Amino acid sequence: MNTIETLVLGERERYIARTPRSRAAFEAAGRTIVGGVSRGTMAYPPYPFYASHGVGARLHDLDGNEYLDLINNYTSLIHGHGHKATADAAEAALKTGQALGTPSVEEAELANELRCRIPTLEVIRFTTTGSEALQYAIRVARAFTGRKRVLKFEGGFHGSEAGLVQDIWNTTALAPGSARPAQPSSAGLDDVSTITAVYNDPAAVANAFSQWGDEIAVVVFEPFLGNNGLVTATHDFVDSIFEQAHSHGALVLLDEIQGLRASYGASQQIFGVKPDLVTVGKIISGGFALAGFGGRKELMSALTNADAPMPQSGTFTASQVALQAGLAAIRAYDEAEYDRLKSLRDGFAQASVEEFARVGRTVQINGFGSMFHVSINHEPVNSLARHLQSDHALWSAVRLGLLNRGVNLMLRGTGCLSTPMTEADVDFYREALRDVLAAI
Ligand SMILES: Cc1ncc(COP(=O)(O)O)c(C=O)c1O
Repeated sequence: MNTIETLVLGERERYIARTPRSRAAFEAAGRTIVGGVSRGTMAYPPYPFYASHGVGARLHDLDGNEYLDLINNYTSLIHGHGHKATADAAEAALKTGQALGTPSVEEAELANELRCRIPTLEVIRFTTTGSEALQYAIRVARAFTGRKRVLKFEGGFHGSEAGLVQDIWNTTALAPGSARPAQPSSAGLDDVSTITAVYNDPAAVANAFSQWGDEIAVVVFEPFLGNNGLVTATHDFVDSIFEQAHSHGALVLLDEIQGLRASYGASQQIFGVKPDLVTVGKIISGGFALAGFGGRKELMSALTNADAPMPQSGTFTASQVALQAGLAAIRAYDEAEYDRLKSLRDGFAQASVEEFARVGRTVQINGFGSMFHVSINHEPVNSLARHLQSDHALWSAVRLGLLNRGVNLMLRGTGCLSTPMTEADVDFYREALRDVLAAI
């Protein structure tokens, strides 16, 4: 048996010994819920731990174990668990009725709050999920341009809309400079008109437009591959998207659903760009279901156009709880906190690099705002191809070891911070990582 297999076996045994109640809960769930979970990312071997509650930066499981939570509901919790102002606002909303079925003033208040941070969100519409927001934003782009195709990038995750959930998982990297019709990387998807191009590759963007330039309605991208190594967009790549799209009469949709973690004004502030359409979600809602799409007024008027309005509906859209909790949460996340989390993130990054170096392994860190990604790789991870070459088997063993020592990090290698975290949490992570790596 090699070192990694020994590590996996040892950590697996330890995990099973620590989490008998989670194991029983997972087995029971599997009898009625397919695969035991309602969200694919939550299932990992041997089985996920079941949280009983969260407090600040910590999660507690059914067996009484405590975890530093570096997942934060897959980036949506910026203040960790049970943030007082957010919880108070949600409770107040609940006391006035669960759903009133009429518009509320908080809707415009949150819209305003977001527009102050992201000026390109001239007008917005709220949705329940980010996937819906993307779906509507694309319809707006199609209505405005009269074109059908969407250009996206390999490895880019934009939710579950059929045209976008392509070329993300179980995918191989495209050849440099290339673009081709999207291919479903999971079962049950129809052929779509989406085009997929290589991420971070201006030549691939130019290639896509040279082939389908008069058919592309919109280019959809995120400032980093959130699901794939946080591969961070280069300025050249972003500029090429805007140049090519606008010179060919297409629109640009910047998916800021995670990008709002990058900077106070979202990722577009960092890149100094003005997308035509923007989607937001995750941290805007205090942990409840809420997202939004918006942008230039003339584009968004597709929704209210007198001749052929684009209907938008949703029973649970813009719920009072989400709006009021969202307002409280976002107002408590000011520029100083953005900066503090960014420097704390550097601490996690440095600890990762140093602890792996102690055992002779090289890791690369991609970091963006309050998020970091650890890749066991000798080369900078600046493309999907590089990300796919990282040592995922070793990482998944290390990750299980971290769980056993009270650190909850994503299986894909991404960590995401929350405002209750301090330097002491960086030290805690460093100790845990050192202890896991001692075995190799
Ligand atoms: C960049 C990005 N876009 C869209 C989505 C979809 O959002 P939701 O899960 O709310 O449907 C996600 C979710 O992780 C995301 O990260």
